[in-house]
Amino acid sequence: MGQIKFTEADTEALFDDRDRDQRFRSFWDPEGSLHWGYFQNLADARPEDFVPACQRWDEYMLEQSGITAESKVLEVACGNGKSAIWMAQQTGCEVVGIDLSSSYIDNARAKASNFPSLRVSFQKESATHLPFENNSFTHAWSQGALYHIPELSKALAEAHRVLKLGGIFLFDDLVTPVEEISDNTRKYVYDRLLFEPTFSPEAYANKLTEIGFKVLQVKDMSEHLHKSYELVSELAQEGYPDLSLAFKRTQEAIAANELGWCFYLCQKVK
Ligand SMILES: C[S@@+](CC[C@H](N)C(=O)[O-])C[C@H]1O[C@@H](n2cnc3c(N)ncnc32)[C@H](O)[C@@H]1O
Repeated sequence: MGQIKFTEADTEALFDDRDRDQRFRSFWDPEGSLHWGYFQNLADARPEDFVPACQRWDEYMLEQSGITAESKVLEVACGNGKSAIWMAQQTGCEVVGIDLSSSYIDNARAKASNFPSLRVSFQKESATHLPFENNSFTHAWSQGALYHIPELSKALAEAHRVLKLGGIFLFDDLVTPVEEISDNTRKYVYDRLLFEPTFSPEAYANKLTEIGFKVLQVKDMSEHLHKSYELVSELAQEGYPDLSLAFKRTQEAIAANELGWCFYLCQKVK
């Protein structure tokens, strides 16, 4: 992994920008989720399939998780709270969502206030300093977010600390399969999203094992990431041609193996 160039303060400012949130809601997901899709039919997917594919990804993760009404789930980097509220609706579980962005936490709380019977709460916190006791949660869940954290290893160790023994940590994240990246990929992908080249898929699994997790499943989702950027590039074309171009460059980065997307299902075993 390279030198840390971006700070948490940079990331917080990026996601606290309410204009950016509105911009992304106009073509990504009107309900404010910011992750990627799991397509039923990769070859024929069309722009209108994008949001349902993001929902399908939530469904896949929930199926793998074993979350039930008895579970207490930490959602790390919950963004606008769509997934946290949805999983509480689906299962009756308790969810605590944390995010670095206070504007996202405000949005998540406002959305949750429409569902007073759900056991969901949101706190503005960093994944690198969780204000929870050891062994507090049965599950830790995260989507499309950990790559933003300059001290990623610290965030993984924190997720491990707050989980009970036998607890499940499931998340998807961006990975950097190759060692060198091109200038275009640096500019349009890594610098645009304020992150440095991160773990390869194998190095990620090794890191999780080193921390005390047993890795139960690794799923390479890179083809679905490629399709997601193809579709959001089309969706953003009219209103935001610069972003649309950045999304095309992101597709190229994925095709060149300079960026990937992986899912990890892990259990705390020590
Ligand atoms: C691309 S968004 C994904 C949000 C959400 N998981 C979703 O799928 O819609 C990335 C999120 O990571 C959050 N984030 C970045 N660094 C963080 C940190 N150190 N601690 C907590 N949240 C962080 C951002 O504020 C943002 O909400």
